[in-house]
Amino acid sequence: MAKIVNFTIDGKDCIAEEGLYLVQAAKNNGVYIPTLCNYEGIKPKGSCRICTVRINGRLMTSCTTPISDGMKIESNTEEINDLRKAIIELLFVEGNHFCPACEKSGNCELQALAYRFKIMVPRYPYTFPQRRVDASNPKIIKEQNRCIMCKRCIRAIKDEQGRSLFAYKKRGHKSEVVLDPVLGLQMSDELARKAMAVCPVGSILVREQGFIQPIGTRKFDKKPIGSEIEMSQPTK
Ligand code: FES
Repeated sequence: MAKIVNFTIDGKDCIAEEGLYLVQAAKNNGVYIPTLCNYEGIKPKGSCRICTVRINGRLMTSCTTPISDGMKIESNTEEINDLRKAIIELLFVEGNHFCPACEKSGNCELQALAYRFKIMVPRYPYTFPQRRVDASNPKIIKEQNRCIMCKRCIRAIKDEQGRSLFAYKKRGHKSEVVLDPVLGLQMSDELARKAMAVCPVGSILVREQGFIQPIGTRKFDKKPIGSEIEMSQPTK
């Protein structure tokens, strides 16, 4: 049987099974820690750093850190929230995120986090990069202007042989996540829908599905991101 450990988040006493990733342990105790690259059911990567917390004095990512007994975690502090806000601002200025015209508006985690962190004008200058839209696949469109390189699609969208349909291409500031042109042709409708759902932004779109659900009725149109966790009862 798994060992139960005690820890605190911002002074709140919590319990969890030892070894559970902190982001999940916090969730089970009704504490929301913002995430972007993390996705339940796929191995964490720790690439976006939004989930950074201070554990026993050190900054660490909560999606990759297993919980252990006696941890003292700071999450909802001015310092850490400003760090998270800065990351969100960087993601906005580094790409071309025009929310009012985006098919994922209301279902986009980046947009929802921007609302949660009350972002008005980013502290960094916009770069307005020129990126392409790959519409070569018959099922999905890959909109590179909105990709935040979270790698969720690379980790989650695989064929029956376990091969990833998405991969990194190029290096440095030219890096992009692309759909394999050969494997992409064998993509089922189900996998295409999963790819769109796994993408936290509007970078992967199933053709002709973008506006099937009207704007105003979507997930984050109804409730702010994280509110479901904050209003939930802790699981003991
Ligand atoms: S959610 Fe933990 S690093 Fe991205």
